[in-house]
Order: sequence, then structure tokens, then C-alpha cells
Amino acid sequence: MNKQGVDKKACFFNTLRVLDSQAAPFFAAKRHRGWVRRTPAKRLRGRPRRALCFLLLSLSILSCAATEELKLNLMPFPAEVEQKDGKFRLTEAFTAAVKGPLPDRVSRAAARMLHRLSGRTGIFFSQGTVPSGGDWDSAGLGLIYEKPGRLKVGEDESYILKVAANRIIILGKTGTGILRGLETFLQLLSTDEAGYFFPAVLIKDRPRFTWRGLLIDAGRHFLPVEVIKRNLDGMGAVKMNVMHWHLSEDQGFRVECKSFPKLHKLGSDGFYYTHEQVKEVIAYAADRGIRVMPEFDIPGHSTSWLVGYPELAAAPGPYKIERGWGVKDPTFDPTRKATYKFFKKFFAEMSALFPDEYMHIGGDENNGKQWNANPKIQAFMKKNNIPGSHALQAYFNKKILKILQKYGKKMVGWDEIFQPGLPKDIVIQSWRGQKALREAARKGYFTMLSNGYYIDLCQPTDFHYLNDPIPADSPLTAHEKKYILGGEATMWGELISVETVDSRVWPRTAAIAERLWSPGSIKDVDDMYRRLEKISLQLEELGLQHIVNREMMLRRLTGGLDTGPLKVLVDVSEPLKIYNRHRQGVVYTQYSPLTRVVDAAVPDPKTVREFRRRVELFLRDKSDKKKEKCLRKQLVTWRDNHRELKKIIDSSPVLKEIEGLSGALSRAAAVGLEALDFIVSAEKKSGPAWIKVQKEILKKAALPRGHAELMIIPAIGKLVKAANR
Ligand code: ACM
Repeated sequence: MNKQGVDKKACFFNTLRVLDSQAAPFFAAKRHRGWVRRTPAKRLRGRPRRALCFLLLSLSILSCAATEELKLNLMPFPAEVEQKDGKFRLTEAFTAAVKGPLPDRVSRAAARMLHRLSGRTGIFFSQGTVPSGGDWDSAGLGLIYEKPGRLKVGEDESYILKVAANRIIILGKTGTGILRGLETFLQLLSTDEAGYFFPAVLIKDRPRFTWRGLLIDAGRHFLPVEVIKRNLDGMGAVKMNVMHWHLSEDQGFRVECKSFPKLHKLGSDGFYYTHEQVKEVIAYAADRGIRVMPEFDIPGHSTSWLVGYPELAAAPGPYKIERGWGVKDPTFDPTRKATYKFFKKFFAEMSALFPDEYMHIGGDENNGKQWNANPKIQAFMKKNNIPGSHALQAYFNKKILKILQKYGKKMVGWDEIFQPGLPKDIVIQSWRGQKALREAARKGYFTMLSNGYYIDLCQPTDFHYLNDPIPADSPLTAHEKKYILGGEATMWGELISVETVDSRVWPRTAAIAERLWSPGSIKDVDDMYRRLEKISLQLEELGLQHIVNREMMLRRLTGGLDTGPLKVLVDVSEPLKIYNRHRQGVVYTQYSPLTRVVDAAVPDPKTVREFRRRVELFLRDKSDKKKEKCLRKQLVTWRDNHRELKKIIDSSPVLKEIEGLSGALSRAAAVGLEALDFIVSAEKKSGPAWIKVQKEILKKAALPRGHAELMIIPAIGKLVKAANR
């Protein structure tokens, strides 16, 4: 480092020291304003002497400013980031210290952070616990906060993270803010020839939305506690703060119920969470600043409840656990007193078990068939002037709401529960669209968005990323916007298993987490993908299996043969999107194998995105030989892959269903190669007949096979178009 560099570092550290005389300056926040480049002019006018100091300080910071900005791999990207000059070097001497009230949760988070940092870098630093106070003066990382923080909607999660060459400080109003800051800190870790370091930076961060959730559906396919825990870790890493636990479905009732034990005993095939496990998950989530909101979906989606308690149904039983997917008929009878007696006792138990302020009652997709077919229910409706099944559900909801209120809970439900007359503290979760979301907000109901965040539908990350609960052109007034609490990614469970769930949630959910945390102006898709690659690897450090399980699945599919050729195909294939997997002539049920090639394939694969980009860049400059060579190499690999893969398919019958897909890849790649020849050749001309034939080949190659589809076809189509001369 040259003299100038040393000076810059010293200057930065001095500045940090001035601003960081223990906790006091943070909480008397004014002193920190000098850090912000955009020092408000009116403050300078009002206090000339201090203003001069600020000005000098600001100038010194500006002169210290980094000449070369490091690309930070932060996700969610913070609200304010100022890069500085200097690096905090990570060495074996690195320690952390905590100052704040009831520091247990923060101390544990700091200990986990040390463990992750050590695991990532291979550096042996002293670990175990990070006691309150500790050796504050010598600690490389100081954590200071004012209040422990509560797991509540609207809680302050803001933090300030300052990295200087000699010291790192994370300041939070609450312990929750510190948890969020620690994740940013871990993402800041960078490398150079000399080793690991944290770049000097000043980050001031806070969430845009207070409700940033992930729905995990354990009803359709049970997910053991360790799966839930590793996903909670992932959520914490990207600052999500609500796990919406979908615990009952037609296909399974998943919580031990002491009041009505036939619920879990007869409704779960033995796959349910005990009270102890529920408490363990809630505590684990709380440690990561995550609320756990349970969902008990009623009055529809309720077959599994009625297996043990058929007398509560709107049609006579017996009932069996449903194995198929879709909207089913079994529904609670909302006209009987016994139904509400049951729910009173049920919610008494569940309200005590789940401490969150909110209880989700589902309320979606009740087809009303059992209600319409039951003469007693029809007579009840007539007698009570209830005009139809929507109104009857509203009647039911109001009764359930009263029960929940008795236990101090606020009600949450899907769009369908939105009926006039409900109190304004309920929350409407919009799965039907922005229109429903806006309508609820306009009427003064709190609401959050899930439409556009259905990650089970295997849509690309940028589709979710650009889906904003309050887009820039939102017609809502500032007041109405306040009712939009945020959103939730929804991991519905029809087509997931313990083995595949992580690859359906991650890494795409990290992009949704950014949409819900970061300012709306942060929406550069290329940069999101760049950062997502890094974050995806860091999520593995938490035990998530979104990458590793694919290898295992491919190995099993090839029966121990070389997985290379299958990987080449899977890298450019995606599971069919939206609900198209259910439209391939096979009826999926709870028992269906989720171990096939389509299950090993992931949404939005990187290889496809890279190929698309390479085609775009080449078409911008067709004379670039390097780009052409690169494309050619890729296309040759795809064209020739089928020969190798065919041998493996022939000895592994489970792969037979993708033989067509593999052949289609080969043919499509050959089309691409021919198109390239035409594009770069001065003599060869394609002609309309050639174009027509190639388009036909590509059209056929794009057809679904083995419930998957090739995603590189449109990019090859662009090459064909460009070859049209
Ligand atoms: C839903 O997707 N039925 C909430």
C-alpha cells in the first residue's frame, strides 16, 4: 500500500472512531449525519460551527472515497451503501462482542456468524459463545443495540454497518436489526491475493416492507423438522421474517392436537409435528428474527380433518385422506353449533401453541358443492337470509373470527375471506392478483401479496423479482399504500419432496426477499442474477440442499454411470411451468415419484441464461470470432451429447422418458450450428425453404417431454432469424 493508501485508511478509521465512541453516538443519531455524503444543506445553515466540522469531515471522507468500487454481492441490497477505501483483514485474532439488553439471541447469532465465517474461510478463530460485553475494545466486530426487539409486525429491523480497516460496528435500534446486519456483514466477505477481507463501507439499511414471508406447505407432503429448520436458516440469511406454515390440507393434518387427537392420528399417516417439535421450530425461527404463523385451512381444503371427525362435515362420511391434487368437495358444516364448539377448543389449543399474533384460516377455494347439496344447509341459509355460498362462508368466517379474537389473535386469510363487515385488523393475503390487493388496501384492510410469488410454478427468478407489491406506477394513494404490509413467496407442496423442496425455494426466493426488503428502485435484473449466484452458494453453507441434491438424483437416475451427459441435458431443461406438469396425461398424487429427471431439473437454470446472453452479444457483433467460437463449442456439445446419453438411457429405463428430450436438444443444436454458418459466411445463403424447415424443427424440439422442456430453443430461434438472408 502506498503512502496515500495508508493515509486514506487512517483517515477512515479516525472518522469511524470519532463517530463510534461506544453506543452513545448511534443513539444520539445526529452525530452520524456527517457520514452521509448528502449532508442536508439546511442543517449546515442552522449551525455554522458544527456545520464547518461536518463539512471538513465530509470532505475528508470524500477524499478518502474509494477510487475503484468493489462489486458487492449483497442480497437483499441495502437501502444506502457508501463504499470507502480500506479493508478490514480477517485473521485468526478476529472476535466479536455484544452490547445490548437481553443479549442472548444476539450472542447466539454472533456465535453462528463466527462459525459460518470460519467454515467459509478455513480460518480457526476462537468460537463458541459471544458473551455480552466480552472484550469490547479488542473485538474486531462490535454489536450495539438499544432494545431486544419483538417478533411483531412493524418492528424496527434497521441497522447501520460500518466497516473500517481496524474495526467493524453494527448498530441496531433492536436486536433484530443486529441479526439483519450480521447477514449483510457475512455477505460482505471478499477476497484478494492477500486473503479474506471486509471492504470498508457504510451501510444504512432498513426494510421496505414489514411482512416478508415464505409459505411452506407441509400439508400436501410432510416436511420433517430439519427441512423446516434449514429453510428458516435460508430465510434468515436473506432477511425474511415470516414463516407461514401451511399445516392442514386435504392430504394431511400435520400438528399433534391434544384436544382432538383423531386429527393427527387419523389425518396424517403418522407424519405430523408434535407440540415439542412445533415449539422447537418456533424457538429456532425466533432466534433468527422470524415469526411463525400457522395456517389451518378451513372450511374447504379440509378432508384430512374430517377423516377423524366426519360428523363436522357438510356431507355424510366416511372420509379418507385425499391423495389427489386440486380443489376437493369436503367442507365443514358452517350451520351446526358443534362445528363452532369444535373450533373453539381447537383454536384454544393452537393459539396457546403458536405465540404469533396472527392466525391464518386459509379460506380459499371452497367450491360450495357440499353446501349446495345439503338440504339442511340450504334451509338454514333461507331462514337466515344468506343468499349463497360466499355469504355462508362470510358467516362462518365471522364466527371463527370471534373465536380467534377471544384468544387474542388477528385473523389472516386468502382473498376469499375479504367480505364486508370484517374488522380492519385482519390481513388479506392476495393470491389472485394486484387488483384484489389494491381493493383490500383501498378499503382500509391490511394486505400482502402472494400472486406472482408462487415459486411452486417454476417460473423464472426475474418474473418474481419484478413483481412489486407497490409498483412505481401504483394508482394507490400514499395512505392506501400503508395497508400493503409486504408479501410472501408460496411453496405449495404438490410436487415437492424432502429431496427437491430446497431447489424449488432457493435461490429464487432470495430475489423475492430483495423485492420485499430493498428499495423499489433496485431492480437491475442482470445484477440480481450476478449476486444471486453468490448468495446461492452461501445458502449451501446453511445446509440447504438445492444444489447438492441434484447431483445425487442424477447419480441415482444413471444407476452409477457417468452423470455428465445427463447433466448436460438437465442443465438446459426446466420442469414444466405453471400447472402444465399436471396436463401431461399422468395423474400426480401424493404417492407419485418425485425422483425423475424433471425433479432433478431446476427452474431458471444458469446455463440457459448464459446461452441466451451469449447469443444476444454475438448477434450484436457478428464479426466477433471469440463469441462465435464460444457459441459453436456449446452447440457442438449439445448436438453430440445425445450419442453418449443414449447409451446411459438404454441401461437405465427410468431415463427412457427423456430420450426424446435429448434427441430434441441434439437436433436443435444442429439447427443452431447451421444458422451460425449462414450468419458468418459471406457466400452461403439460407433462403426461405431452409428457414421454414428449421423453424419446424425448433417448434417440435420445444414440445414437453418427460414433463420437462428445453429452454434454449428461443435463443436458437434468434440465430435462425439472424441467418435469414
Ligand atoms: C391458493 O392458491 N388457493 C391460496
